[in-house]
Amino acid sequence: MQSLTWWQTAVFYQIYPRSFADGNGDGIGDFAGMIDRLDYLRDLGVGALWLSPHYPSPNADCGYDISDYTGVAPEYGTLDDFRRFLDGAHARGMRVLLDLVLNHTSVEHPWFRESRSSRDNPKRDWYIWRDPAPDGGPPNNWYSAFGGSAWTFDETTGQYYYHFFFKEQPDLNWRNPDVKRAMWQAIRFWLDMGVDGFRLDAIDTIFEDPALTPHESRLSQIEMLRIWRENRSPEETKELWEQFALMFRYQVQQPGLHELMKELRALVNEYPGDRVLIGEGDDIAYYGNGSDELHLVFNFPLMRTNRLTPAWVRANQAERLAALPPGAWPCNTLGNHDVGRMWTAYGDGVNDAALARLHVAMLLTLKGTPVLYNGEEIGMTDLLLERFEQLRDNQAVNLYHLAVGDGIDPAEAMKMAAAISRDRCRTPFQWANAPNAGFSPPGVTTWLPVNPNYAQGVNVADQEQNPDSLLNYYRRLIGARQAIPALLAGDYAPLHPDEDRYLAFLRTTPDQRCLVVLNFSPEPVTTGFDLNGARLRTLFSSHPRPTRDEHPERLTLAPFEAYIGEVIRIGTDWE
Ligand code: GLC
Repeated sequence: MQSLTWWQTAVFYQIYPRSFADGNGDGIGDFAGMIDRLDYLRDLGVGALWLSPHYPSPNADCGYDISDYTGVAPEYGTLDDFRRFLDGAHARGMRVLLDLVLNHTSVEHPWFRESRSSRDNPKRDWYIWRDPAPDGGPPNNWYSAFGGSAWTFDETTGQYYYHFFFKEQPDLNWRNPDVKRAMWQAIRFWLDMGVDGFRLDAIDTIFEDPALTPHESRLSQIEMLRIWRENRSPEETKELWEQFALMFRYQVQQPGLHELMKELRALVNEYPGDRVLIGEGDDIAYYGNGSDELHLVFNFPLMRTNRLTPAWVRANQAERLAALPPGAWPCNTLGNHDVGRMWTAYGDGVNDAALARLHVAMLLTLKGTPVLYNGEEIGMTDLLLERFEQLRDNQAVNLYHLAVGDGIDPAEAMKMAAAISRDRCRTPFQWANAPNAGFSPPGVTTWLPVNPNYAQGVNVADQEQNPDSLLNYYRRLIGARQAIPALLAGDYAPLHPDEDRYLAFLRTTPDQRCLVVLNFSPEPVTTGFDLNGARLRTLFSSHPRPTRDEHPERLTLAPFEAYIGEVIRIGTDWE
């Protein structure tokens, strides 16, 4: 078997620290809580933990606005607490990755405070300052991805600063070598401490066009919002996406990124133990030549649908795997802190429970490193907030104001805001069927409301008691995956490419071949595979199944069943 490193075989698990476990009873997650739950994570079978930002932050963007890159947010604990967490994870065989936000800092970061203090401050050029346009307005027509202009006027010095995200997140000027030096130092601080790698936030946006070329999108953001609310034909949707891309054309994926990623990779390579870089970027080119930029780049295109179908997944895999440079390793995910929860996003409203099992089986059997988002394993769902004061995601707050300003009825605007609000997937983790779902003590107001469905079995304690629960299914599935070399290392070869009821593929190493069949239909399917007379030894099924070997020429799957069988070799070769 090709020898693989830990980040190729481990199941990754994203922890959203604010919502994972509240150890001190203040309604906010923290390191004490995370430390208490390390055994839970080990028992789940995950091998690497990625923490969303744990740094000090005024929380204009829930921690993605960092005011100290080498500290710990006081509400999460101290640096010593962090060390205990890191050591505790390592002692249990789990790696730890941090979130690294390179594009911007918080307005509260000392670098920005200095930078904004005067035009001749030595850190002035650490951020992107420009004079107003002749009419006093912003330097150009660029938008912030979170709504409104990308430029904010600063009274003190009479110039505008640039921010791709919120105005509380000024973009660093990565063309200034001092910025890089300071950030590399912060990275070394964590690597020296023993952190195993980083998830790189929003890399697409690190550089912007220095000429500040205005965008040529025909639509304004408010017009887009109006059109978005109307029923659209596929042509109109396509047109909308094109205009959207035009809108940000000079602000994303600008020259310089690949050189920067190479430098970062070289820095990380100086450390022993195969530290890893995972990119939140849209471009497969961040893999570089397969070994000189990022180790992993999320396969986001897989997620860009509200219905995972066999055809969709096959097309995605065909395109993605073909595009990977030699030696590059795939990385698949179906959820994170920015999107709807997998259960809600890909459910059909009728078979959600069965689909949740099927989809995660797919994620864990496709080729590559799978990344789970905390709470998926107990079937947490989106929670739509009802009142404006409950919103914590300022993106939703902005949208609400934009909509109300455009004459939309406030109740309707609130529904729109709740539907896009990233709060919907960030609610407190549900540990027990108890007040506050066992996340915080009874009577405490949690930072976001707890989803009331904890009382309907969506909680860890109840599911631990039930052998058929989703949680126990996840444990069994992860355990199976980790024990089947072909699922970890094997090539991927789709079978029955025109079939729309099920997805079937082989995963093959020189020593082992497995057949994976995922029945996406609500009916049983009987199918046949020509595997040269070989038998199938059942290794895993989402459903109860006789333990006998199966004949691949006639294999019957229950509705939504996920089946993994080892192909019993009859000759010396697979073919
Ligand atoms: C990334 C993060 C998101 C954040 C944004 C700005 O997309 O995942 O949560 O708001 O970057 O940092």
